[in-house]
Amino acid sequence: MVGVGSAVMGEGVQATPQLGCRFAARELTVRFGGITALDAVSVEVAAGEVLGVIGPNGAGKTTLFNVICGFVAPQSGTLEFKGKTLANVRTNRLAGLGIARTLQGVGLFPGLSVLENVMMGAERFRRAGVVSALLALPRGDRDERALRERATRMLAQLGCEDVAARMPQTLPYPVQKRVVLARALVGEPQLLLLDEPAGGLGAEDMQELGERIGSLRGSTSVMLVEHRVDLVMSVCDRVVVLDFGRVIAQGDPATVERDPRVLEAYLGSAEVA
Ligand SMILES: Nc1ncnc2c1ncn2[C@@H]1O[C@H](COP(=O)(O)OP(=O)(O)O)[C@@H](O)[C@H]1O
Ligand SMILES: [Mg+2]
Repeated sequence: MVGVGSAVMGEGVQATPQLGCRFAARELTVRFGGITALDAVSVEVAAGEVLGVIGPNGAGKTTLFNVICGFVAPQSGTLEFKGKTLANVRTNRLAGLGIARTLQGVGLFPGLSVLENVMMGAERFRRAGVVSALLALPRGDRDERALRERATRMLAQLGCEDVAARMPQTLPYPVQKRVVLARALVGEPQLLLLDEPAGGLGAEDMQELGERIGSLRGSTSVMLVEHRVDLVMSVCDRVVVLDFGRVIAQGDPATVERDPRVLEAYLGSAEVA
């Protein structure tokens, strides 16, 4: 187990962003009935690296994220983060571990405003315990204010401060995607998992997203799953290619792009072209 407690409870509001941390998945195998979604997949992200994960539909990209997040238990394999084995990861502990994830699509809480959604991503900075919050003790109030300010600042950074009070489902899709990113970033994760963040975005929004992801380099370790291969190639330090649950190629973007196995995997789909 990694130091869940210290990350969740102790350091609180003044926590400074830490350097991204090394992450490794080793020999992960996941089967769903007769389908092998991941077949002994090993993937590593260096501290502060932006790693792209690409591959045709059904290659196992989302399943890989689901294992890291504890949604799916692998039949075999191990996860390592900050030099320790990650075991029994639960989704409600991810933020405390320093891991944030965005879902394919949107996945904002429909009953909460934009600001409240983003505040959920900052929960790990709450210093007072649940009791103070429930009894509305001053410490709980201070926390609430601090979280609100953090969330507001993050929304402003993403150019969304004007929609803080809106309900997410009333916003245009690209704005919802920004809010999703704000909710992930506000927790200052050391490992950020992005599942198709560019889905449904136009050229301008996509370019801005690319710049934003690039700006995380060095301070956050990033795994970027993305169909838009051009975005991956322009923003990632390294790329891993999955096909039918296996790693078929990895390396720097220029090398991977030319790899005949990769071209073959994408053959017949318009994704590389
Ligand atoms: N919960 C599940 N139950 C059954 N099969 C699944 C489940 N999740 C994924 N799969 C199957 O596993 C394979 C990999 O899917 P996925 O990881 O979603 O691929 P990708 O994200 O690369 O498109 C696919 O064949 C998919 O149908
Ligand atoms: Mg997917």
